[in-house]
Formats: sequence, C-alpha cells, structure tokens
Amino acid sequence: MTGGNAGGENPSGLFITLEGGDGSGKSTQAALLEQWLTEQGRAVVRTREPGGTPAGVEIREIVLHHRGDISPRAEALLYAADRADHVATVVRPALSRGEVVLQDRYLDSSVAYQGAGRVLGGDEIRDLSLWAAEGLLPDLTILLDLDETTARARLDTSRTRYDRLEAEKAEFHARVRAAYLDLAAAEPERFLVIDAARPAEQIAEEIRARLTPYL
Ligand code: TYD
Repeated sequence: MTGGNAGGENPSGLFITLEGGDGSGKSTQAALLEQWLTEQGRAVVRTREPGGTPAGVEIREIVLHHRGDISPRAEALLYAADRADHVATVVRPALSRGEVVLQDRYLDSSVAYQGAGRVLGGDEIRDLSLWAAEGLLPDLTILLDLDETTARARLDTSRTRYDRLEAEKAEFHARVRAAYLDLAAAEPERFLVIDAARPAEQIAEEIRARLTPYL
C-alpha cells in the first residue's frame, strides 16, 4: 500500500483531499487553495467525489437524490464504484502528469459516513475503498472540523433542500464527526485538522503554511 507520492509512481504529483461534515466550508477552502496553488505555478485539477467523472455524475444523482431507501451496503458500493472510476480516469492520470489533485471528499468520507454513520464498520469500508482505488492514499488530508450545531445552522441558511445524507439525524452526524477525528488521530502525518468555526482567511493561511513544504 503506498501513498500518492510514497511509491515513487507519481514523483511530483500531489494528492490533497478536503474532508469534513456537510456545511464545514470545504468548497470555500478548495477555491482559495486552488487560487494559491495556481499562483505558486502548479497545475491544479480540482475535482470531487461523488461525481468527478461522467459515470460518477450519474452515480451521484442516485446516491444523493434517489427517492426512497437505498440499502447501506448498496450505498457503500455506489460510492466505491464512483471512486474506482474517478481514480482510474482522473486522479492517477493527473498525478502521473505531475499535477496537484485538489479533491473535495475521498475515502475518509466513506469510512466516516458509511463506516460510522451507517454503522457498516470502518475497517471493511476502508478496505473496500482501497480496493476500488488500487491503494491510492492522499499525501495530505485537510479535515475541516465543525461542531454539529454550527454546521447545521450554516446548512440551514445555504440550502433549500437537503440531500439524502444531509437529511440524516443528529446522531448520524455526530458519529461521522467522531469517526473523522479518530481517523485524523490514527494518521497525524497525513491529516491537518482545522477548527472550521474560524474565519475563512485564517483557515486558508493555516492550510498554506502546512502545504508549503510539499511544493
Ligand atoms: P456534496 O454535495 O458533495 O456534499 P458537501 O457539499 O457537504 O461535500 O455531497 C456529498 C455527500 O455524500 C455528503 O453528504 C457526504 C456523502 N458521501 C458519503 O456518504 N460517502 C462518500 O464516500 C462520499 C464521497 C460522500
């Protein structure tokens, strides 16, 4: 099992993922980071899961907006299918070209939402994701951590409708948050944990400081 660069397969590519609960401000930080990386002279591929490929867009529609139930294991497999297609056709090719892949959500989302939120088991879901992604791990994962009350208040002001995951109950989101923090504690060298209640520009500054040695 190798990380994005660790195997030597993508000597100059850099794989950065953004993680966090719904409403934690990932899109804002992704936009600021993309701008900064571009100013540093790096070619950046900004992408997301689910939905970073044409097939992924269709999978995204099912997992987020299907009316009616989807069984938890089927949901986990849909996210894994999206990931497999995305890694094979978008992420690895960009890393091989030496580019920076800046990605909204990756396998830690599956471990947190399906493994903990849906209680399918973190280890099994991680193994499934790693199989789908042929072992690719990010070089750096930025976790935007936000307490549930603040996250929900932010979502309520920005959304007119909730997707299937956002609509889950408070206990679900509490499990997701706890799982993310456990993942970060287990792999401190891969994770940067950020208090996402702070102003966006302060957060961006902290992210840039952590990334500078990678560039
Ligand atoms: P998205 O609209 O991208 O949410 P956000 O703006 O909060 O990132 O929707 C992605 C949703 O899918 C989000 O609720 C988390 C969920 N998700 C999983 O449950 N498992 C996964 O593996 C991924 C990638 C996302």
